[in-house]
Amino acid sequence: MKIALLCSGGDAPGMNCAIRAVVRTAIYHGHTVLGIKRGYAGLLRGEFQKMDLSSVGNIIQRGGTVLQTSRSPEWMKPEFRTKGAEILRAQDVDGLIVIGGDGSFNGANALSQEHGFPVIGIPGTIDNDISGTEYTIGFDTAVQTAIEAIDRIRDTAHSHARTFLVEVMGRNSAAIALKVGVCTGAENVLLPHDKVPLQKIVDDIQRGVARGKDSSIIVVAEGPVAGRSYSIQKELKERHQLDAHVCILGHIQRGGSPTSNDRFIASQMGSLAVEAIASGATGKVTVVQKGLVTLEDLSKCILKNDGGYTEFKGLAEKLSI
Ligand code: F6P
Repeated sequence: MKIALLCSGGDAPGMNCAIRAVVRTAIYHGHTVLGIKRGYAGLLRGEFQKMDLSSVGNIIQRGGTVLQTSRSPEWMKPEFRTKGAEILRAQDVDGLIVIGGDGSFNGANALSQEHGFPVIGIPGTIDNDISGTEYTIGFDTAVQTAIEAIDRIRDTAHSHARTFLVEVMGRNSAAIALKVGVCTGAENVLLPHDKVPLQKIVDDIQRGVARGKDSSIIVVAEGPVAGRSYSIQKELKERHQLDAHVCILGHIQRGGSPTSNDRFIASQMGSLAVEAIASGATGKVTVVQKGLVTLEDLSKCILKNDGGYTEFKGLAEKLSI
């Protein structure tokens, strides 16, 4: 078989581990892999390259993606997907593996539905917000990076008896903020769609000060537009005369060497994706369910989930009193 492979949407640590597993498993079974550069945009420009064992050597520990990635507004339009299907068929491609998030899966699903083209998805996004799977590649590394950063911020916050608003990535997903909030002992976690409880933040800080606490970390989920910590900082100052420093972790969380969890799950998913497509499966995604890597219907993985909001919000609240 000839299998094409691309990454799409925001990069995530561990994507290289999945790429490596796809290429190695395919070659092990005697298949050919064509890597597509820069996602769907590169597909439309015919940026294909044959991948061999050496093209995935020495990448397992590297963040980012050696295939590079992009967000492609063109792929949202049916006429470009028609062109894409023609390009894939002209290259004699038998099936396409897409590593990305819900937007990338919507694009893959449309290609499969409209053109009957065989596709398999591998979930890769630091946001851990894809329905149908408990895990997306990159989440563990992004959380670990944010925890390490906040531990450092805690050192200086303690030394100066300061309050910090630390904004973490995740757009509308609560996943990174909740896990990081619990793991760093944050005094408050502000989630994407919750109304900001300014008075509660102030009361919590004052209660902490009264019992001898000399620093406060408030983890702020990014929400739809990055930078909302600055308006929270302004309101805390103007309405409550409370000084808070802002630190936005931003894209630091998207880079870096993947953790063992990301490496291992990505390796399993990459391998399973090849074996699925080679056995004739299509319209599937490699997922984690009940802790095991398995396959789920692509149509069940094209929506976002709540990023652990229902499951972990209560825990974060109980532990931050
Ligand atoms: O979806 C992954 C993510 O890192 C989000 O957490 C973040 O809001 C967004 O991508 C940032 O996208 P970009 O790198 O295109 O600015």
